[in-house]
Amino acid sequence: MSSIAVIGAGYVGIPTAACFAHYGHDVVCADVDEDRVRLLSKGEVPILEEGLSALVLECVEAGRLRFVVGATEAARDADFVFLCVPTPQSETGAADLSFVESAAAEIAPVLKAGAVVVNKSTMPVGSTDFVGRVLQESGAVSTVGVASNPEFLRQGQAVRDTLKPHRVVIGCDDTEVAVRVSQLYRDIQAPLLVTDPASAEMIKYASNAFLAAKISFVNSMANLCEAVDADVREVVLGMGYDPRIGFEVLHPGPGYGGSCFPKDTAALLHTADQAGYDFQLLRSVIDVNRLQRDRMVEKLRVAAGGALSGVPIGVWGLTFKANTDDMRDSPALYVVRHLVEAGAQVRAYDPVARDLEDVGVTGVERTRDAYEAADGASVVALLTEWDEFRWLAFGR
Ligand SMILES: NC(=O)c1ccc[n+]([C@@H]2O[C@H](COP(=O)([O-])OP(=O)(O)OC[C@H]3O[C@@H](n4cnc5c(N)ncnc54)[C@H](O)[C@@H]3O)[C@@H](O)[C@H]2O)c1
Repeated sequence: MSSIAVIGAGYVGIPTAACFAHYGHDVVCADVDEDRVRLLSKGEVPILEEGLSALVLECVEAGRLRFVVGATEAARDADFVFLCVPTPQSETGAADLSFVESAAAEIAPVLKAGAVVVNKSTMPVGSTDFVGRVLQESGAVSTVGVASNPEFLRQGQAVRDTLKPHRVVIGCDDTEVAVRVSQLYRDIQAPLLVTDPASAEMIKYASNAFLAAKISFVNSMANLCEAVDADVREVVLGMGYDPRIGFEVLHPGPGYGGSCFPKDTAALLHTADQAGYDFQLLRSVIDVNRLQRDRMVEKLRVAAGGALSGVPIGVWGLTFKANTDDMRDSPALYVVRHLVEAGAQVRAYDPVARDLEDVGVTGVERTRDAYEAADGASVVALLTEWDEFRWLAFGR
């Protein structure tokens, strides 16, 4: 069994750390957030992910999973260091690699000979080389290896997807390093693809861009169905049974959001622009998504009789999708912000979303349930597909 460090205790880092510990490895997970580390050390998980608390607690109690403050502390004795830090969108649309760069620079001097740094954060083509350079320039010994191993988990199903991924992709030019990384996954039944770093990095972006395209496509179909009086729910049903199409993410709504699809599509478009390729299809996917959010606001304005000012509006759902507490780049929040700006009186219900003021949205009254949010409203906006909204007594 190996000694593994996971840098970044977030939506990817915690499941990754717990999964490797569950499979018997000795795992230390680091974050810069002291409160987060304190909670996790007690087995308390600060994010909503089904089954994650139980898995973390099991591994902490078994002594195979520890949480520490600071990457250096975790990386010192590690055979493998998984980078799971944020790669947000920068002003140009490109992925901002500053968290990756500082984490790599921080751990470089303490890495032991033969250690492997594994890029699990989503990073553009060239990042495996980039991390290798940062490590060497920051004092790592020359025998330290680097590999790309992108993560494909779905928030809300992170435990399932980490314990039983649909595939494992490893990008590395050094066969010995690639084999060592692949051995970490030997207890996991999943197709394993070992490839060059650039292709591994591209697989992640291609996958997210394709899923985003599927969402923008179904949203466009929904808009067209409305115009010609067809029912998009029936259309989706008829399409999804085709195994070449499938039902996954084929749901119309207020557009895709979250911490991945928007920034990853923007980063891929930036990569294409840099490479001199006009990726028209991807540009349209992004445009359609932006317009879909505005379309929701417009629909509500029309439903409210032409003006939003002073209109009581009930909102159901605030997170960027169901089964997560994550509100990063949530289409629901985009709509709510615009409603508030237009002077609507918004009363919102979400089963798990945190305080809206934490994410910079003010002037929204929160209610204890969906009925209360609808009480007295002229219009109700269903913005996140939480299961509980399916079973409401709509007559009430
Ligand atoms: N969230 C997803 O569903 C998902 C899925 C696949 C891939 N990814 C990718 O994984 C990466 C991480 O995403 P996330 O959603 O887990 O982010 P996150 O914001 O939930 O977690 C990142 C954590 O890293 C910590 N951190 C930052 N710098 C650090 C440092 N130097 N040392 C220690 N800790 C540090 C932060 O405090 C934070 O807790 C991103 O590149 C993302 O694109 C995310």
